[in-house]
Amino acid sequence: MALPAASRFPFAPGLDICRVLNGMWQVSGAHGRIDPERAIDAMFAYHDAGFTTWDLADHYGPAEDLIGRFRARFAALRGSEPLGEIQAFTKWVPPPGPMSRQTVDAAIAVSLRRMRVECLDLLQFHWWDYRDTRYLDALKHLADLRQEGRIRHLALTNFDTERLGIIVDAGIPIVSNQVQYSLVDRRPEAKMAGFCQEHGITLLTYGTLLGGLLSEKYLGRPEPARAELTTASLQKYKNMIDAWGGWALFQELLATLKPIADKHGVGIANIGTRYVLDRPAVAGVIIGARLGVAEHIADNTRVFEVSLDADDLAAMEPVLARSRELMQLIGDCGDEYR
Ligand SMILES: NC(=O)c1ccc[n+]([C@@H]2O[C@H](COP(=O)([O-])OP(=O)(O)OC[C@H]3O[C@@H](n4cnc5c(N)ncnc54)[C@H](OP(=O)(O)O)[C@@H]3O)[C@@H](O)[C@H]2O)c1
Repeated sequence: MALPAASRFPFAPGLDICRVLNGMWQVSGAHGRIDPERAIDAMFAYHDAGFTTWDLADHYGPAEDLIGRFRARFAALRGSEPLGEIQAFTKWVPPPGPMSRQTVDAAIAVSLRRMRVECLDLLQFHWWDYRDTRYLDALKHLADLRQEGRIRHLALTNFDTERLGIIVDAGIPIVSNQVQYSLVDRRPEAKMAGFCQEHGITLLTYGTLLGGLLSEKYLGRPEPARAELTTASLQKYKNMIDAWGGWALFQELLATLKPIADKHGVGIANIGTRYVLDRPAVAGVIIGARLGVAEHIADNTRVFEVSLDADDLAAMEPVLARSRELMQLIGDCGDEYR
């Protein structure tokens, strides 16, 4: 099973990605117990199917170590040359504090060691509090590390449009911003996507499948109690659905998506992924993978077989239009973290 050429995207100079990235928050421990050996076997399966790009973070439990172990086993079995087929995008999510060169160096050194690489493909930076403007100090040091060859490309996660503008104005070279984007959370359309398009920045999206809620599994189901939502991801996005318009409206959305999915011979999740992949500025959709626990390789391959037409989009709009305005309720991208 090979993915079509359309699955690839020229993300940055010398760096092509698969437009569906494998998300590794799901190995952090908050989504069920992960067995490292089984997880690495699963990583080979994803990679060999064409899903070669991984999204992780310093604080996703063993995620960076799993990349290191996957790379080591990959090199032992296949030689070190094809290691270049793997793209591993990590994040640095520092606690607030002074951002000296030494602090930044130390953090990046940990990720390099854990991932067993000489240079990070992509470093996505998160910041908790905009009142503390030392995010600019951190980013300047990260840009220097890029010049020195420790980071290939610099990126952000959960930054709003206003601060992205400040960072761009400061001359810091940013390739992407990772934000929540789904049929339920369309905030990036308001300001972020336009700004990104103007400045040659792309979006990597998460929450696109709402932790799995955007699927046949939840179609026609009564509103789940908190205890039934067994992963941190399901809980997070159930809250988002509640803010957006509630379970009854979400059921209407699933019921609207089902005939569209049937028409294309795919699943509801594929429709949700395709919708976001087709939005302006979007480079890729990150789909969480509970490695060695649950697997959606063949399912997610079908994303690349779907082309949504005007009738499909028109059928969705009346339901989407009845939702609350999340931009007003929560704020711009990432404001839910602040
Ligand atoms: N930057 C940030 O602040 C941030 C925040 C959250 C997430 N992320 C990133 O985004 C990634 C995605 O995570 P997420 O929490 O947003 O979850 P998600 O991708 O919305 O949902 C993942 C879940 O969807 C289900 N699924 C996957 N493919 C499916 C298919 N084809 N059909 C039906 N169900 C399917 C799986 O559930 P089962 O396993 O139950 O089968 C999977 O665990 C994370 O791993 C992380 O890398 C970043």
